[in-house]
Amino acid sequence: MSELSTNLNNLDTIVNIPQQIVINPAQIEIRPVNEDEIHCVADIITRSFHFDRGWMAWFTPLFKIGIAEDLRNRLRTRVPSALHSKPQQQVCLIALCVDGAQSCISGTVEVGVRTAERYRQNHYRYVYLSNLAVSKDFRRRGVAQKLIESCEQQTLNWGYTEIHLHVMGNNERGRNLYQKLGYEVVSSELVWSIIPWHRPERLFLRKQLVIGE
Ligand SMILES: CC(C)(COP(=O)(O)OP(=O)(O)OC[C@H]1O[C@@H](n2cnc3c(N)ncnc32)[C@H](O)[C@@H]1OP(=O)(O)O)[C@@H](O)C(=O)NCCC(=O)NCCS
Repeated sequence: MSELSTNLNNLDTIVNIPQQIVINPAQIEIRPVNEDEIHCVADIITRSFHFDRGWMAWFTPLFKIGIAEDLRNRLRTRVPSALHSKPQQQVCLIALCVDGAQSCISGTVEVGVRTAERYRQNHYRYVYLSNLAVSKDFRRRGVAQKLIESCEQQTLNWGYTEIHLHVMGNNERGRNLYQKLGYEVVSSELVWSIIPWHRPERLFLRKQLVIGE
């Protein structure tokens, strides 16, 4: 096993990375996740979306297993389905921060082709970005931006020129990020909440991609 994979398999590398680590964009590498790195991705998602706080902390190990299993299944579903003429397209990317001989997974995102009915047009296919998360110690260093740019390139490689995603209205960091990268709000909806008088807003965003940009 290479030194790199040894580091990636060691969760402590992610958790205990020094706060003051300085990363410049050239040190961030983006590539598809390997099967043996999925537990690291699940850890980043669990922490980034606060599944490790309050009463949910009791169930954190279960959340992680569930997230990892879901991701494994999505990535394994590469067989042609009845709805698709092409094989299903789904990829999970990771950002590796490389510092000399050391590297660790600092962020993740998923992008895939989904099918929906729109304008009475059956099986309309569109590209959807999800599960974007960056470890707290690596934020504000351009990791998310690099991950999104790679998703956009992947979208173009699949032959699509639009990319879509959802972001919660109260997620200021997320909204700033997508606005900076040229995403526009297409629609918004109020989502269900256990607090009856508080129904958070969820925004649907889209970006028109330009080939060769
Ligand atoms: C949102 C998130 C992915 C951003 O990751 P990141 O690697 O820190 O983002 P980047 O460094 O690439 O930032 C790019 C731009 O996003 C915006 N942004 C990122 N973090 C921000 C913050 N804390 N406050 C305000 N704007 C922010 C800024 O416009 C920033 O550009 P700038 O640094 O030139 O001002 C990260 O904070 C995260 O994982 N949050 C929890 C999970 C989440 O909300 N995911 C998105 C779900 S839709």
